Amino acid sequence: KPVHFVVLLGSLRRGSFHRAVAEALPALAPEGVTIDQLGSIGDLPHYSADLQAEGFPLAVTDMAERIAAADGVIIVTPEYNYSVPGALKNALDWFSRVQPQPFAGKPVAIQTGSPGAIGGARAQYHLRQVLVFLDAQVLTKPEVMIGQIGGKVDAATHAISDKGTAAFVGQQIAALAAMARR
Ligand code: FNR
Repeated sequence: KPVHFVVLLGSLRRGSFHRAVAEALPALAPEGVTIDQLGSIGDLPHYSADLQAEGFPLAVTDMAERIAAADGVIIVTPEYNYSVPGALKNALDWFSRVQPQPFAGKPVAIQTGSPGAIGGARAQYHLRQVLVFLDAQVLTKPEVMIGQIGGKVDAATHAISDKGTAAFVGQQIAALAAMARR
């Protein structure tokens, strides 16, 4: 059956390497898999229970509905200070308050990168921890951790220029699709 994924991007930067990866995903998807961007998490206010009490911001409910309707979510994010960027954590904090929980039982794949060698591995494991509370079904392998990301993606054309990296990312999308179909 056809499956549909949405992409949650952890960087707000216009020239972001991770934005390039996120935008490259639809073209790397196998047959029967469609992929859309969720939109900018920079539009979400800082989480506050007071704001929530006034009613969830439209940007939150819109993204939460699209997550709930999708067959899976691909989170593409840099590592900030060995962890999850604040803007992404903020978005997840908002989504965690929406009922029913949009991430509950949802297949999720994580892709991190870094100009350094470790490819955002530390952020990736912090993110997995957060997703436990959100009750997501996080894909275990393959783990996409793109080291030396500046030489592997082209931020100007939104492409993964390194063939091996592109193929590996495609394998992860296929694994997420197989999980979503189970
Ligand atoms: C970073 N960067 C970074 N890299 C890394 O591998 N581990 C880290 O802990 C951090 N910490 C960190 C904190 C902050 C505040 C910034 C701005 C950056 C470097 C980061 O990986 C690099 O800037 C990437 O290019 C960010 O991803 P985008 O915006 O290009 O997608």
